[in-house]
Amino acid sequence: MYHTLKLTYLAVLATQIGVSLAHPSIENAEKRQLVPLSMGLASSYGAIAHMTLTSTGNTLITGNCGTCPGTAITGFPPGVCTGSTSAGGTAACLAEAACLSAYNNARAAGPTVALPSADLVGSTLPPGVYTFPTASGTLSGTLTLDGALNPSGQFIFLMSTTFNAAAASKITLINGAQACNVYIIVGSSATVGAGSQLQANILAYTSVSLMAGASNNGTLCALNGAVTLINDAITARANCSSL
Ligand SMILES: *[C@@H]1O[C@H](CO)[C@@H](O)[C@H](O)[C@H]1NC(C)=O
Ligand SMILES: *[C@@H]1O[C@H](CO)[C@@H](O)[C@H](O)[C@H]1NC(C)=O
Repeated sequence: MYHTLKLTYLAVLATQIGVSLAHPSIENAEKRQLVPLSMGLASSYGAIAHMTLTSTGNTLITGNCGTCPGTAITGFPPGVCTGSTSAGGTAACLAEAACLSAYNNARAAGPTVALPSADLVGSTLPPGVYTFPTASGTLSGTLTLDGALNPSGQFIFLMSTTFNAAAASKITLINGAQACNVYIIVGSSATVGAGSQLQANILAYTSVSLMAGASNNGTLCALNGAVTLINDAITARANCSSL
């Protein structure tokens, strides 16, 4: 029901702004050259959800907040959204459509590099489009993203199903790598453990949940479900600086 409504509404928006609503599988998508992905109108959003945006405790979202077509945004206050809040409004719907567009573009990006392990812990990676040996991907500690070869390069992680970051996991950016250029593309839902410190746009086909005290630089997008937060700190990364 929601799905149908959403697709109908987004189809209208898509016609206006020229995005594709396809959800191609990694296997079937024809890989194109990696062109820079963009969060577009979603880049000013800390969190954008299809159904609900829920916070418990003193979450701080530095940026805009929204839902589309859902209208339930709860927990603000005591949570704070420093930008504008759109519950089912046009601004949120355009941001949600931009999330979907970025998601589909990421799914089609290539050439891809196959990671040896499902767990990103301990890796130091250059820009690239990465796939996992399993349907899901995990991060059980620190992942380092290295911009040495190209500080404007993008780091794209494609998961068929879930992404799970353990408590206190971390993404560290070195040599000019930028949070705005990190994309975690999740085929079902993403769960980020308590106290984690991530730097990524996290685009989940279903939902995104951050446990207590986690922080992120980037946009959280739930394409069909909810964004759920607990005492978290989210900072939208508007545009990348061109380096
Ligand atoms: C987000 O970026 C700022 C610098 O712009 C940095 O101080 C902060 O630690 C980053 N947050 C995370 C979770 O890494
Ligand atoms: C981001 O880039 C777009 C397109 O270049 C521009 O229209 C917009 O004003 C920029 N946003 C910020 C916050 O700089």
